[in-house]
Amino acid sequence: MPVVRSAIAQMQTQRIGEVSRIAIGDPDVIPLWFGEPDLDTPEFIRQAAIDAMQAGETRYVNKRGIPELRQAILDYTQSQFGVGLDPERITVTGSGMTAIMIATETLVDNGDNVVLVSPIWPNIFYCVQTMGGETRHVRLDLTETGWQLDLDKLFDACDERTKAIFIASPSNPTGWLMEPEQQQAVLDFCRQRGIWIIADEVYHRIVYDRPVAPSFLSITEPDDALYIIHSMSKAWCMTGWRCGWLVHPADLGDRMGDLSGINNTGSTSFVQHAAATAIREGEDFVAEMVARCRRGRDVVHQRLGGMERINLAAPKAAFYAFPEIIGLEDDLEFAKKLVREHRVGLAPGSAFGPGNEGFLRPCFAKSEEQLSDAMDRIEAGLKTL
Ligand SMILES: Cc1ncc(COP(=O)(O)O)c(C=O)c1O
Repeated sequence: MPVVRSAIAQMQTQRIGEVSRIAIGDPDVIPLWFGEPDLDTPEFIRQAAIDAMQAGETRYVNKRGIPELRQAILDYTQSQFGVGLDPERITVTGSGMTAIMIATETLVDNGDNVVLVSPIWPNIFYCVQTMGGETRHVRLDLTETGWQLDLDKLFDACDERTKAIFIASPSNPTGWLMEPEQQQAVLDFCRQRGIWIIADEVYHRIVYDRPVAPSFLSITEPDDALYIIHSMSKAWCMTGWRCGWLVHPADLGDRMGDLSGINNTGSTSFVQHAAATAIREGEDFVAEMVARCRRGRDVVHQRLGGMERINLAAPKAAFYAFPEIIGLEDDLEFAKKLVREHRVGLAPGSAFGPGNEGFLRPCFAKSEEQLSDAMDRIEAGLKTL
């Protein structure tokens, strides 16, 4: 058989999938392995999709997004971040994932590198590797006061082949949040060195000590080398719908349309109508969703944090905990064992880049009852170690 490119042949198998495949869909297993809420998409959003479909919105649309959604995003950006965006700076994409892929496609040649604040969601570094790029993980430190980024380490990892620094804040899997002072330092460094910033802000609404996470948008100029990744998946419970958006410099607008076309010809037309409704009418729902995640976070933090062998920082944002299990050597095997013998599904830490072998990631965007049951099962599993 002819060979595939070495970048593809060498990709690590998806470790979260390796665990979830054991029991996906099994009602006896509590699934905390994927990053999604257990709530259905709210009724008013589903109805907007039905209405759009019935009205015949089922064809190709503008590859950069329908006008209704583009306008909703502009208004939302103004209200959430206090920034009025040039409309040329946004492109609706077929998901947050597609936005990451497009940003990467524009920057990474064979042999270039991207420096990533790690632990980080695996698809992000797979994207870079797919383009033939090298991924350099700069790991957050788990300290007494929570996860901390050492900026010197971040800057030292960059060299003349560094095309971008990729920062997902709020972070999946750690719940870490980058404060504006650190954002400013990264911006100053990147401006000086001619390095792009790719800021993944898909969890910007899922934050517990303020209304919205600090955004690079608030401190940058329109022509800065900056991409911001957004998604409809998380705050509006629309993971299966596939819709996101990308903020980019205005002069790349046409290119973004071309790349959106090449990747999937943009997000589905009736999904975009539903997304516009979600953004315009979804504030009450987002508030409920965050309150529910906060309750989930408290259950997990109190229960898991109190267990033996567990070292856990309180997640400041997003809907994941990332506990270290002291003495654990093979997180993948242990995660499989938790599914097979204790009927609870967690993502193995090693999926999120090097140095995370002693960690596991539960998603807590679930009901308190389910989480409390899951904690009993994890506790029983830990006792067998
Ligand atoms: C940090 C991060 N970025 C992007 C995404 C992608 O979201 P979407 O469902 O829009 O592709 C995810 C999904 O889990 C994520 O955790």
